[in-house]
Amino acid sequence: MVKFSANARAMRSSAIRELLNVAVRPDMISFAGGMPNPSLFPIEQVDELYRSLTLEQKQVGFQYGPTGGYPPLVESIKNYLKKKNLPLEGNDLMITTGSLQALNLLAKIFIDPGDGIVTEDPCFIGGVSAFVSFQARLAGVPLDADGMDLDAFDRAVESLPHPPKLVYITPNFQNPAGIIYSRERRLALLDRLRCIDTVLLEDDPYNELYFDASDKDLTTPLKVLAQEEIPICYTGSLSKIFGPGMRIGFLLAPKQIIGKCELAKQSMDACTSTFTQVLANAFFEQGMLKPYVETLRQAYKRRAEIMLGGLKEHMPKGVKWNTPKGGFYIWVELPQHIDASQVLKVSVAKGAVFVVGKAFDPQGTRNNFIRLSFSHTPESKISRGVEIVSQAVSEFL
Ligand SMILES: Cc1ncc(COP(=O)(O)O)c(C=O)c1O
Repeated sequence: MVKFSANARAMRSSAIRELLNVAVRPDMISFAGGMPNPSLFPIEQVDELYRSLTLEQKQVGFQYGPTGGYPPLVESIKNYLKKKNLPLEGNDLMITTGSLQALNLLAKIFIDPGDGIVTEDPCFIGGVSAFVSFQARLAGVPLDADGMDLDAFDRAVESLPHPPKLVYITPNFQNPAGIIYSRERRLALLDRLRCIDTVLLEDDPYNELYFDASDKDLTTPLKVLAQEEIPICYTGSLSKIFGPGMRIGFLLAPKQIIGKCELAKQSMDACTSTFTQVLANAFFEQGMLKPYVETLRQAYKRRAEIMLGGLKEHMPKGVKWNTPKGGFYIWVELPQHIDASQVLKVSVAKGAVFVVGKAFDPQGTRNNFIRLSFSHTPESKISRGVEIVSQAVSEFL
């Protein structure tokens, strides 16, 4: 009989992956995956980019590369982060295979079985899966419209036998709750963190995806605000602003932490795809990121507005949701007695799929929420999809 390790036994299957199998049915309207619609990918720009590369650059792209990343891309991303005032001094930057790998690397280097991690509740499912697979003990902190509830944060820290090894947050356009932390809450959380022997893991893949330029300042990372009194590991990703298939993320963290992460990555995948790093670097160097992200902001804003319009029109009374200022998600709260899994069954039968709340609950139980992602669905189908989900909810009221 095969005998799996304790780490493997701790792994949870991802409800999202299972649902995506349903979501590929051609007639299904999917609000499930937090991913861009294929029509939004910069395919022509990338055709052009590849043709513009020299033979030597193409050869580098086919070769293994340094574990820390393709040096020109490391430089390009450093420049990009510098413009956002992220502190480069005292920190190093490494490229990872998606930011999800950065979360796994950090869990691997920090977590011994039973060590505590304070997370948001609800929390990004990939983060929960990564942490649980290293046998972390999770203490979830409820979110309100401005970020983590700090009284609950104190209680979560006290509930652990030792200070948490990591505090994990996604302050911008949180997945799944769609909220953005207010400036006050960011500063107050930093004050709390100054008194605890811990490391903040700030996950920021949606940083660029604010809908209105006037909200850009709201996205200032905690790593910028903190001025380095606290060890902060800042992760970002090109998945939402170039393409998830590139599998490029990055980690900006104190040098000592990057050193350990590079060691951990060496035996994992040796390096992130050099091919996509060469392309991504050309994307930065040729100034394509800025105009492309601008088109994405407009596209996602439009999609969010259509979804909000649909919710207003079709959702029955007693159902609440947030109005996102950016990102991919609307988090819908159903009356407490409704089980989102039952709603999902009805909704799938009618032709629309979403992710149920308990997938994002660090304890995997609370289930009167649903996550609707507006990023992937063709605009023309969003209203109809919301109508279907709303009809499914109505059956339980
Ligand atoms: C909050 C958050 N972090 C990290 C990731 C992982 O992104 P990737 O590994 O594609 O960079 C995602 C993807 O949905 C996310 O929502």
